[in-house]
Amino acid sequence: MQSMRFIKIGLVSVVVATLLSGCKSGGDNQGLEYAPNMYHSVAYEPLSQITDEDAGRWVNSSDKDRGEYYNSNNYNPFRMNMRLPAPNTVSRNPNGWLPYRGANDTTGLRLSNNLVSPYTATPAILDQGKVLYESNCKHCHGAKGTGDGKVADKYPGVANLAGDAIKGVSEGHIFHVITYGKGLMGAHGSQVSEADRWKIAKYVKELQKN
Ligand code: HEC
Repeated sequence: MQSMRFIKIGLVSVVVATLLSGCKSGGDNQGLEYAPNMYHSVAYEPLSQITDEDAGRWVNSSDKDRGEYYNSNNYNPFRMNMRLPAPNTVSRNPNGWLPYRGANDTTGLRLSNNLVSPYTATPAILDQGKVLYESNCKHCHGAKGTGDGKVADKYPGVANLAGDAIKGVSEGHIFHVITYGKGLMGAHGSQVSEADRWKIAKYVKELQKN
């Protein structure tokens, strides 16, 4: 009878110890959970979409007979996890600017004359403008803008940006020309961002002073 009591006490203490150890929780240890899938919802990854219902089936837990990694949202168009933006949504750049809407015609070019750069010609902006000019414009227009870049003899008609004809144009005009091109010069709007085009325009105005 005495030994029965020891066994009982032993069993009770094992159960109590197990229960108490389940109460401890921390960053990496959520403690003992009963039916964890009741409170841990399956996360929809907004920037990923796995439409293969078998993906991750080898993992032990599966959701409604789908693999662990299946994460498409069947209630959204195209089963995307992210919702489509509202119709006519316009993306803004990190500065909050709307895309340049000046028209690609003579009226747009004329109106661009009045545009003012959002940047001031600080040494930092001019430094960035110089780097951008050297990778996008120098091969045609030359280091000083005089139209003597390495490509200029193969590509006739490159304008001398520092010459009297162009010296006086506004930075808005330069921004517009970079965006859409003009005459023999091609458009650069798709490869140079709006912010960078304004920085280049500042740097060109600086080149024109010399
Ligand atoms: C492939 C050669 C080439 C590249 C690259 C190029 N340009 Fe031009 N650019 C030209 C040519 C050619 C003209 C003359 C266009 C015309 O009048 O037909 C021109 C003209 C211009 C003009 C004068 C526009 C006017 O009002 O007549 C500006 C300003 C200008 N470019 C700025 C730039 C800037 C800034 C870059 C760099 C983002 C650049 N260009 C890149 C070839 C180039």
